[in-house]
Amino acid sequence: MSRITSKLAIGALFLGGTLSAALAAGLPLGISQVDTGALPPTGEEWLSENPYRVDAVGEEIWQEAIKIGASGYNQNCARCHGLEAISGGLAPDLRYLEAEEYGDEWYVERFRVGATQNGITKMPGFGEVLGQDAAWAIRTYIETRPDDQAMADFTDELKTMRDQLQVYASDSDEADPEQMKSRLIEIAAEIPTLSGAPVADSIAAEAAMRIDGTPLGYSDAAETLTIGLSAAK
Ligand code: HEC
Repeated sequence: MSRITSKLAIGALFLGGTLSAALAAGLPLGISQVDTGALPPTGEEWLSENPYRVDAVGEEIWQEAIKIGASGYNQNCARCHGLEAISGGLAPDLRYLEAEEYGDEWYVERFRVGATQNGITKMPGFGEVLGQDAAWAIRTYIETRPDDQAMADFTDELKTMRDQLQVYASDSDEADPEQMKSRLIEIAAEIPTLSGAPVADSIAAEAAMRIDGTPLGYSDAAETLTIGLSAAK
């Protein structure tokens, strides 16, 4: 077998595996179930507005919805709408849908029925298969993505802070954790979403939370910035 055919064979095996898993779960190809057990159920009737916003459910459930939505988005939507909801041009950029009833109605209509043009399915409908809780969890994830352009304005500063945190991790004598933290929180506050919703998890806010004055805290914060900065690239 040539290298190319053996690669193809492995690819086919892999595809076969996911295909049979999907069939076993009774799901159409390319759609993966989303476990929404940790969220308050939204009921039978389809809503026209996102029920998992922070003002409605509080910080904890909101964060949970985003986490579940991230996984649901990555498995079902990212291949067309782009990683981190940043569209590469194949399908519309979902981050711009207004985080209010107007944007929600449009969102949920598309989610439920998908999109067809001249008899060709451009987007499958997800409503029947994934259900309403998954729909709104994914919506919550999408609308809370930070504006990557605004974030780019802070890239250099965040890199410098990352390097500083790495130094503090091994020698914290000169460290000023409060100053570091407050600057990170300031940066986080300056990065908006494109939907008008509050930002959920800017890397700056996440890094600030890790800083607790210990060497481990500094190295965790540095790591958070490193991962975030490479994802933003
Ligand atoms: C096979 C590719 C594909 C997948 C998978 C897909 N979409 Fe789409 N989606 C599209 C295309 C193409 C359009 C534009 C349709 C049109 O011409 O109106 C679209 C449109 C939309 C719209 C309307 C956006 C607008 O600005 O008009 C929403 C909302 C949406 N998709 C949400 C989702 C969600 C949520 C998922 C995952 C659960 C998903 N899509 C999965 C291809 C896809």
